[in-house]
Amino acid sequence: MLTYEVDLYADDAILEPYGHYKAIRDLGPAVFLPKHDMWCLGRYDEVRAALRDYSTFSSAQGVAANDVINTRSLGNTITTDPPEHNKMRRIIKGPLAAPALTHIATAIDEEAERLVDRLVRQKSFDGITECAQHLPVTIVSKMVGLPEGGRANMLRWASATFDALGTMNERGKEALPHIEELHRYCTDERTLGALSPEGWAAAIWRAAEDGHVPRSKCPAMMRDYISPSLDTTILATGSLLWLFGQFPEQWEKVRSDASLIPGAINEAIRLESPIRGFTRVTTRELDYGGQTIPAWSRILLLYASANRDERKWSDPETFDVTRDARDHLGFGFGPHVCVGMHLAKLEMTALVKAFARHVASFELGEAKRATNNTLRGFARLPITVH
Ligand code: HEM
Repeated sequence: MLTYEVDLYADDAILEPYGHYKAIRDLGPAVFLPKHDMWCLGRYDEVRAALRDYSTFSSAQGVAANDVINTRSLGNTITTDPPEHNKMRRIIKGPLAAPALTHIATAIDEEAERLVDRLVRQKSFDGITECAQHLPVTIVSKMVGLPEGGRANMLRWASATFDALGTMNERGKEALPHIEELHRYCTDERTLGALSPEGWAAAIWRAAEDGHVPRSKCPAMMRDYISPSLDTTILATGSLLWLFGQFPEQWEKVRSDASLIPGAINEAIRLESPIRGFTRVTTRELDYGGQTIPAWSRILLLYASANRDERKWSDPETFDVTRDARDHLGFGFGPHVCVGMHLAKLEMTALVKAFARHVASFELGEAKRATNNTLRGFARLPITVH
């Protein structure tokens, strides 16, 4: 059995994961992680094939790397398999599909322009708290439609949710009370009575009234909007700005050719995948080049490693805005591919376009990485624009 001794969820591996990912890829297509008592796929082809094959790689027993969460908080869209998954996803996807977003695109562009105008006058700012958080917190959190008290907690609940999707280390344990609180919030009649009628959350309950999904599913489906809608985009935006600061010639290319913006966003999500990976459970015995994975094994699919697999990408460590990175796995792939990706790209595009009009270069101060069990990105990112 090919094994790799690492605690992928320890601080050092969270801060410097790429050496471990390479070691896992180099060992073989499937590697056992004794420390976590689970298997792991790190190569692009295998991760992509697993994401597509939901009947062999099931999400219905949770996608976390620990049993506490996998047995406790099932029931949202990400933790179901087809055919149940299809019904829930159709509802969640409604307001997030590309055509449905056209009516908020203008508001996002205008808000991005106002923000960048302010930041340029300020000259120095924090790329996370003052910049990357702005559109998700001011626009997206309003679209979800929670009452003010709930909105104010979304970032804390989201970060805790992603910590709890790793192992039950200190970070995972500390996240549990926040998750309980989120669960209580979503099932509290007072919350439901105060949801904004135009919001995405209220639309879930209307879909239940129309018989598309049982009412009992609605609180869990509300979490589909609350947990992944902010932090993911915030961290991706921060990493994109950091990469532009690190590689000014790449920013220069984007600034002088707006058609490179979508590619630059995909390339940043490939290189600095905000979600490192989720798990599945195998529903039958599998063979990877003589390595047998028993049925009902927990298996980690490392999107962040697949996105740097040298078998798939040339110069995988290089940030190249002209690369065709569209088939990266940073948004997942297959039936569970991110439903929020159009929105995330819309927000990031608006910001980059506004910066391209006003900023020649990003000078980086001393950045501090966030330590989250599942998310990658920065907690602090001082930037001075020129
Ligand atoms: C750059 C930003 C984002 C990244 C990198 C990202 C990443 C991902 C990934 C990797 C998955 C696949 C999960 C799996 O295979 O088990 C996923 C699913 C999902 N994402 Fe995102 N996401 C982002 C933004 C968003 C936003 C803005 C929203 C909501 C407004 C959102 C909502 C969801 C939901 C509900 C799912 C589950 C879909 C399903 O199970 O069918 N995401 N996302």
